[in-house]
Amino acid sequence: MSLKLGLIGHPIGHSLSPWIHTNFIDLAGLNGEYKLYEGDHTKLPEVIQHLKQMPIDGFNITVPYKQVIVDYLDEIDKDAEILGAVNTIVHQNGKWKGYSTDGEGYVRSLVEPYPNLLNKDTSVLLLGAGGAARGIYRAIVQKGVKKVDIANRSLDKAEALLSLKTGTTTTRIMSFQEAEQHLGEYDLIVQTTSVGMKPNVEDQIIQLHHLRKETVVSDIVYQPITTKLLQDAKNRGAIIHHGHAMLLYQAQLAFEIWTGKNLDVAHMVNELEQKLRGE
Ligand code: ATR
Repeated sequence: MSLKLGLIGHPIGHSLSPWIHTNFIDLAGLNGEYKLYEGDHTKLPEVIQHLKQMPIDGFNITVPYKQVIVDYLDEIDKDAEILGAVNTIVHQNGKWKGYSTDGEGYVRSLVEPYPNLLNKDTSVLLLGAGGAARGIYRAIVQKGVKKVDIANRSLDKAEALLSLKTGTTTTRIMSFQEAEQHLGEYDLIVQTTSVGMKPNVEDQIIQLHHLRKETVVSDIVYQPITTKLLQDAKNRGAIIHHGHAMLLYQAQLAFEIWTGKNLDVAHMVNELEQKLRGE
């Protein structure tokens, strides 16, 4: 059997997903391919129509189509439905079912190096409240942590995340200035906005004067690998967690949805880093 996988998005010419999934196919001892289906806005319905007629096993969908794809699905996973976004589709028995692997992929990337970080006593600060923050917020809350506070530029957008809350985790919405003052309260700080991404590598979303050395500072931006925020945290002696690991683990979860195989991909974190550095 030859696995047929792919990615729809725009622009996706520089995507690392083909490299990641081709490695996964080899690791799993399977044969197959992972193709790019570049679809600008006008071409999206055609691309979808083409894929509906193909014997494709599954595909990823990325920006800007994570929301619109929902209209083309036969089924949707409960978490993806709540998040209102899908990035992974499996084709089974003639039907397309959509999932969201970003949030859980992020949590997997964190739990792999820090297995005890997310527990009932953990306090988390989330920076940002966009699409990426939604999935990450929900996945962290589902781990049953003590609190996940959200700091965002526009407070109403942060308020909208409260509907995703489950269990006993508490959440306070705050400005970046307030977050800076309370930084010492947190065990984990997760930066989910595009601030600091190439070419704006000198931008840093908050100042870290009150950061504790025991805190893990995580940035989902992976270009550059070490953002200004992460470098600052490192200089202050804190623990840092790079964004490219999320890329790998959300792919690991997608591959598991398509094939049922849970691959050990920890060794690929460094390989992916080298690839991103262009080495
Ligand atoms: P994504 O899906 O990648 O998360 P998004 O949904 O557009 O992208 O969300 C972008 C997030 O980055 C938001 O939290 C946004 O803040 P606002 O809700 O106030 O717009 C945040 N963001 C983007 N640029 C920012 C900047 N220059 N300063 C602060 N926050 C920024």
